[in-house]
Amino acid sequence: MHVAPPARAQPRLADAAQAAAVVEAFDLRRLPAGYYANPYPYYHALREAGPVHRLPDGGYFLSGYAACVAVYKDARAFSSDKKREFAPKYGRGLLYEHHTTSLVFNDPPLHTRVRRIIAGAFTPRSIADMEGPVRELVDGLIDRIEAKGSADLIGDLAAAVPIEVIGNLLAVPREEREPLREWSLAILGALEPVLSPEQQAHGEQAVAGFLAYLETLVARRRARPGDPERDVLTRLMQGEQDGERLSERELLHNIIFILNAGHETTTNLVGNGLYALLEWPQERAPLLAAPQLIRPAVEEFLRFESPNQLGNRLTTAPVEIGGVAIPAGTYLTIGIGAANRDPEEFPDPDRLDIAREPNRHLAFGSGPHVCIGLNVARLEGRIAIRRFLARIPEYRLAGEPVRGGRARFRGFLSIPVVLG
Ligand code: HEM
Repeated sequence: MHVAPPARAQPRLADAAQAAAVVEAFDLRRLPAGYYANPYPYYHALREAGPVHRLPDGGYFLSGYAACVAVYKDARAFSSDKKREFAPKYGRGLLYEHHTTSLVFNDPPLHTRVRRIIAGAFTPRSIADMEGPVRELVDGLIDRIEAKGSADLIGDLAAAVPIEVIGNLLAVPREEREPLREWSLAILGALEPVLSPEQQAHGEQAVAGFLAYLETLVARRRARPGDPERDVLTRLMQGEQDGERLSERELLHNIIFILNAGHETTTNLVGNGLYALLEWPQERAPLLAAPQLIRPAVEEFLRFESPNQLGNRLTTAPVEIGGVAIPAGTYLTIGIGAANRDPEEFPDPDRLDIAREPNRHLAFGSGPHVCIGLNVARLEGRIAIRRFLARIPEYRLAGEPVRGGRARFRGFLSIPVVLG
């Protein structure tokens, strides 16, 4: 089947009147259908009206790069603790317990304690050691794609890589990995600004399933510990900071978080990157000719279509951001995807430029909570995209790609392609 190359999404609204109407109506609880396919016209309209925008629920949406960086850098004035927000959203169930115990949604001291223990396992050496196995895995996946003659870039490549890498990082036995992706999607799906009762129930079941599984995994690892230099799970179990160990619940929820954090986001990096090269075919040739360009190219894919589009913080004191006075106790949404298209920081921001330099994007956040797995994700992205492109340089769409349809996590559920 022949399908035309995807039309490039229009980054701008038609006129000033439309932009004003979009800004006026912008509400994260009621996002317009078009936003999910292409949020950039909304982001530009908001930013042009001012980098810090008041939402109907009293929170603020930050679309300017400088404003987002300022918030990320100051963890005292801008808290990551989500208990106040999640109690009414989730009730007192397992989703609440999970999301309020993981390090990403905590401030010191829990955040510092867990982060130090985990970060020690992400040394340059342990990441370099992943390279060979990831390359082998990717080559095997591409062999299968070549044999089939067609592929779903998500199911056959992008989703398969992070499951393997994260599974190896925590030494989860291979035959036990299958349910991880489904659990992960359900738990992270529950972070959407608005949650249906079905999504909530699904999320609760996923946390329950995950906890039950991890209890058995932890018990087995206690009986036979792994190498704490390599195995993040053993490290977390043995890790002690300032004489304090993680409680059993803290341990289990943070393992869930690491497994989740590395899945969907990295899948989306690979899927969004290969899709961007369908939209911008002229960027393929230089990448093929100069393999070292894969480094800036991956940074550009992260900027151009950030897998994680939104972050959040709560003000702990009255603050001023971008000239706007904001009281203590206010929710802020950090528009990662919006900041990454801010022309003040990125010249010609709606153009994909695989050699862009400098490229100080915020796809991994910034400051004390900056992504711990960023170099793992980069490695996976570089290997998967570069090797796929080198072996199947003429891949084309074979049908309509299906988007995930989420505001927070931007990516595809499937991208059908033929090989040339
Ligand atoms: C392209 C892939 C990825 C993207 C776009 C991404 C994005 C992010 C972002 C934006 C944050 C900051 C959250 C905040 O400040 O509120 C974060 C934190 C985190 N990420 Fe990633 N991530 C990716 C892959 C990974 C991988 C592969 C792992 C683990 C192997 C990982 C583990 C973590 C952890 C543990 C945190 C919490 C850090 C903290 O709170 O101190 N991430 N990530």
